[in-house]
Amino acid sequence: MSTQTAARPSTPLRRAVPYVGPTLAYVNDPLTLMRDQYDRFGPVSEMPFIGRTWTVLLGPEACGTALRNPDKAFGSELGWGYLVGPFFHRGLMLLDFEEHHRHRRLMQEAFTRDRLRGYTAKLGPAVDQGLDAWKPGPGFQVYPALKELTLDLATQIFMGGADLADTAELDRVNQAFIDCVQAATGYVRAPVPGTRWGRATKGRKLLVDFLSRHVEAKRESGGDDLFSVLSRLTDEDGSSFTDDDVVNHMIFLLMAAHDTSTITVSTMMRFLGQHPEWQERCREESMALGPHPDLDAVNGLTSLDLVMKESLRLVPPVPVIARRTVKDTEVMGVHIPAGRLTAVMVHLQHHMPEYWPDPERFDPERFAPDRREDKVHRDAWEPFGGGVHKCLGLHFAGAEVQMIMHQLLRRFRWTVPADYTTPLNYHSLPFPSDGQPIDLQPLTMSTTPGAPA
Ligand code: HEM
Repeated sequence: MSTQTAARPSTPLRRAVPYVGPTLAYVNDPLTLMRDQYDRFGPVSEMPFIGRTWTVLLGPEACGTALRNPDKAFGSELGWGYLVGPFFHRGLMLLDFEEHHRHRRLMQEAFTRDRLRGYTAKLGPAVDQGLDAWKPGPGFQVYPALKELTLDLATQIFMGGADLADTAELDRVNQAFIDCVQAATGYVRAPVPGTRWGRATKGRKLLVDFLSRHVEAKRESGGDDLFSVLSRLTDEDGSSFTDDDVVNHMIFLLMAAHDTSTITVSTMMRFLGQHPEWQERCREESMALGPHPDLDAVNGLTSLDLVMKESLRLVPPVPVIARRTVKDTEVMGVHIPAGRLTAVMVHLQHHMPEYWPDPERFDPERFAPDRREDKVHRDAWEPFGGGVHKCLGLHFAGAEVQMIMHQLLRRFRWTVPADYTTPLNYHSLPFPSDGQPIDLQPLTMSTTPGAPA
């Protein structure tokens, strides 16, 4: 790994590439772009990206420093705000310092183990119901099917279901929310009709109207969906979220939970389809449980947990974390001036041979207790980020992903050609542009080892 020890006034600007070059290169193949940037310029450098010059941090040391943020130089709001700000305005990830601390402390109450038990109890039947609509066969487009499933789960677990709206309105809400997520890497960054940014502006307005109409009733309802819980939370000083806070947090949480979980399940399905021995190993564990295991049982699916970790390593759903410096600072001896947009590119460290033997190989056992390759550096594996903004929903995400996989394994067997590589599009969070076709077959229970009689 190249190191830089002497502080200097600024870092080398990657001038050789055309202005939109890195943005296009990122959308198509971020890992190659990051590797090339790291090889040429080291862990701290600069790059023109989506209309601005960004400081780029690569490798666990540089990324870990910005995420732990010891001198409070890296603000989240002004970084993420540039990418998705107007649409996820005042979501938890876009708050900073004291205010962030206060909101996070309160929001944590919605993610306690007891709350998670409650959400998980609802997940089982909801996943079952969603999967009833799947029509297995060759070339089954698994990504759009998973996206629909996770949107339905969000509607039920996060918002409390169909008592809120009719199907047509929920469809409009879902579309509004998708439009907001897609704005991140739009080139036009103004609400021009017909552009990503324009659609997201309309989407945000629809979401605010919809959630604002329901927040009062949710607070009164005593319900145990996330929307109701957030609207009622009160800390020991008696403070609680305002209606606007609840609306802003809900919009952000829907976004934070949705594409991330969908791409994780889709990546796991790809690798299990290409590694039947792992698929059978996971299936055996799932067959030993009932269809709707509780939180502890889901967390006990150890092979699936290894597969999930390895899938998050190979395809991290959030490959880049955005920050902006609020004062001058230094990372690995390199000076970064105040006001600098900063891309914390955690994706690369998941693939660096310095930390992971044979990094492109799917090898879930690298996370097994006797190997724990992720322990080689405390920031080597960072799909959920690190520091004060570390994903608040990571245990929820684990339960949701495991529950979906558990039921898929009990219902279906699937294959993916060994030479298939998912064409991932990184316009916003990564998604397979071909829908990720798989050969999906119903499971014949009688031929499955460990199947219940
Ligand atoms: C596999 C799925 C997921 C991945 C990979 C993921 C990843 C991340 C990452 C990398 C961050 C840190 C962003 C930063 O530092 O700026 C983050 C923040 C966050 N995530 Fe997740 N996430 C996932 C699922 C979820 C789910 C299901 C929820 C909610 C139920 C959630 C809620 C949040 C929240 C509230 C934050 C902001 C935390 C803060 O700023 O204090 N995430 N997530």
